[in-house]
Amino acid sequence: MKILVTGGAGFIGSHTCLALLERGHEVIVIDSYVNSNSQSLQRVVELLNSNNLNRSTGIETCSADLRDEKVLDQLFSAHEKLGKSIEAVIHFAGLKSVNDSVHNPLKYWDVNVGSSINLLSVMNRYNCRTIVFSSSATIYGFSNNKPIKENTLIKPINPYGTTKVAIEQLLNDLYNSQPDKWRIANLRYFNPIGAHHSGMLGEAPIGVPSNIFPYITQVAAGVRDEFTIFGNDWPTKDGTGVRDYIHVMDLAEGHVLALEYLVNNQNQIINLNLGTGKGTSVLELLNTFKRVNNINIPLRFSSRREGDCGSVVADNSLAALCLEWTPERSLEQMCIDGWKWQSLNPKGYI
Ligand code: UD1
Repeated sequence: MKILVTGGAGFIGSHTCLALLERGHEVIVIDSYVNSNSQSLQRVVELLNSNNLNRSTGIETCSADLRDEKVLDQLFSAHEKLGKSIEAVIHFAGLKSVNDSVHNPLKYWDVNVGSSINLLSVMNRYNCRTIVFSSSATIYGFSNNKPIKENTLIKPINPYGTTKVAIEQLLNDLYNSQPDKWRIANLRYFNPIGAHHSGMLGEAPIGVPSNIFPYITQVAAGVRDEFTIFGNDWPTKDGTGVRDYIHVMDLAEGHVLALEYLVNNQNQIINLNLGTGKGTSVLELLNTFKRVNNINIPLRFSSRREGDCGSVVADNSLAALCLEWTPERSLEQMCIDGWKWQSLNPKGYI
């Protein structure tokens, strides 16, 4: 298939492009590079070449902001004129900092929701009505420490989360307006970490990371002095926060399977949790990272982070059933691959 990947140069996007190309799909990436680097896509091509999987088409790239509807229209039109239209979209593009969203809600609504409206309008115009959307577990309300199912209460607590819910609602409305035309999957990610096992692709956050894993790897590399654990009084196994960490390549493969599932089944809109179903505490993650990489991580405890919750773990049974998907890579593998990426690329893609 010919697939447009918005935000394809980012962390999850670049790993998904690799998974799509390895599966024989054609990939067009549109990315504004405000929070990513085009080098990631060159690395994807290098990886394909080194595996003798070089496709004559490679990756076509378009550097643009999705809010520019004209550029999007031209992209769809050009491919239609070439006789091979864009058949489906995987939509990653968007801003993703929770803290930034609290201070700049208008920016988040404009970029995340505004660009999605443009994208969907153009898709509709060109009869391309298959989309996999990058949603998040952040949309769920508190779970009482039970694994979260797709029908768990939706109750986001920050503008980043509300924009994800708004886009899901928009997709729902669109589906209901033409249920015989649209095929839509909202993939709700839990906590993606790790990197491609080659160490060629990984997460390259700009500035001080707010998520746990890049912070740990930067402390391990000596870029930051110590790791701070936000709270040791949560009602969890060891008092530290529990999350469902998933290897980014398992997540990437989940996207490919979701797309193929949509194409091979009847028209539908489906919400799927992509997580492993296993809860890991902050201390367990730290200890695993230290053990498998034989490296020390200086740490201290502080009070709870505002807006945090104790435990967020997926019930992934629906995704497992529909997609015939099982996340295969262990926590150990996530830590080994993530550290390899950091060690080989101390300054990210620069
Ligand atoms: C965070 C966001 C969530 C977003 C997700 C993306 C918040 C409140 N939530 O989720 O909306 O979808 O990232 O990946 O920001 N921790 C520490 N020290 C640190 C960093 C984190 O102890 O320096 C702990 C946290 O308290 C938590 C766990 O590590 O228990 C995971 O934190 P993080 O990586 O920020 O992810 P989430 O909080 O799950």
